Amino acid sequence: MLQTTALLPIDATGLATAAALLRDGQLVAFPTETVYGLGGVAFDPLAVAAIFAAKGRPASDPLIVHLADASELARVVTTIPAAAQRLAARFWPGPLTLVLPRGTAIPPAVSAGRATVAVRVPAHPVAQALLRATGLPIAAPSANRFGHTSPTSAAHVLADLDGRIAAVLDGGPSPLGLESTVLDLTGATPTLLRPGALSLEQVEAEVGPITVMTRASHGAAMPAPGMLDRHYAPDRPLWLVRGPTDAARAWLRTRSAAEVAAGQRVGLLLPDEDLAVLSDLGADHESLGSASDLSAIAQRLYAGLRALEARQPDVILARDFGETGLARALSDRLRRAAAGGIVDV
Ligand code: TXA
Ligand code: MG
Repeated sequence: MLQTTALLPIDATGLATAAALLRDGQLVAFPTETVYGLGGVAFDPLAVAAIFAAKGRPASDPLIVHLADASELARVVTTIPAAAQRLAARFWPGPLTLVLPRGTAIPPAVSAGRATVAVRVPAHPVAQALLRATGLPIAAPSANRFGHTSPTSAAHVLADLDGRIAAVLDGGPSPLGLESTVLDLTGATPTLLRPGALSLEQVEAEVGPITVMTRASHGAAMPAPGMLDRHYAPDRPLWLVRGPTDAARAWLRTRSAAEVAAGQRVGLLLPDEDLAVLSDLGADHESLGSASDLSAIAQRLYAGLRALEARQPDVILARDFGETGLARALSDRLRRAAAGGIVDV
């Protein structure tokens, strides 16, 4: 159903309008510290259904419920394990999502029928103000069409969802730029379902060793559908090279030169240091900032992907960042964006 999507400022009027729309069962996209979310009242089954429809998201992929404060947890879950209390006290508000036993007030559709619900308290002041003004838990996936790159600005949201949602609150660029870390606390040991803006090392420092969910470790089952191989993807083919810096740069050079020689338009999505040594190739590029500042790279990753995509290169080339700290989440998103086009050197 097409509608006019309002672009709302983040002043008192914009926030009051957004909260009124949400309470009326409408969908409002809003900034969080990670990425923009597509919000609807979590207790309202019609709003929840509208979220899935607007995104084109399969009903099998559960949503995250956002709260203003950890003290509201009892409204949405049945039990709060000790590990959840510790993690909430340490990392909320912030980019950590906890999977806990779902409370009866949360419609099953939020969780794709699972007995669990994913919950997070966002730190972004606009998300905080919106949650407080609405006074209700807000279900919000990333505000992109299903499978596409997550949005880190109001313009990205409009590019994907204009005409499909009531409004978007324009809070400027998302400060972190990568989605929250998703941790399942319903099993015997905490399990990482999705690496994200809070590093595994930081979480383990608080609660001890964590099981890392990989495709191999869960086989055909799909505990977190965000684990789908192709996700967070631009609509251009992306090749990802993994390996030591010198070997990766050599591969990027050879591959770029071959593409250019074949008349193909290449888009490089790389840190400054890589671009500096490849600048003679004449390839289009988006800089991710210095390789020594992974948080800056995270902040720019999705905007860089979308900017390159808009210029329609024939192929995008990128490099892996390893598995330490934030690099784990960066590499995870790039692997999914590559959709199988991964080269180990
Ligand atoms: O940073 C974020 O997490 C952003 C902002 C808006 O909060 N939200 C976000 O939502 O990335 P979404 O829907 O794009 O990703 C939610 C992830 C998916 O991988 C989903 O499968 C997983 O969380 N998830 C949600 N509920 C779950 C549940 N009950 N059990 C297991 N995984 C769940
Ligand atoms: Mg998403």
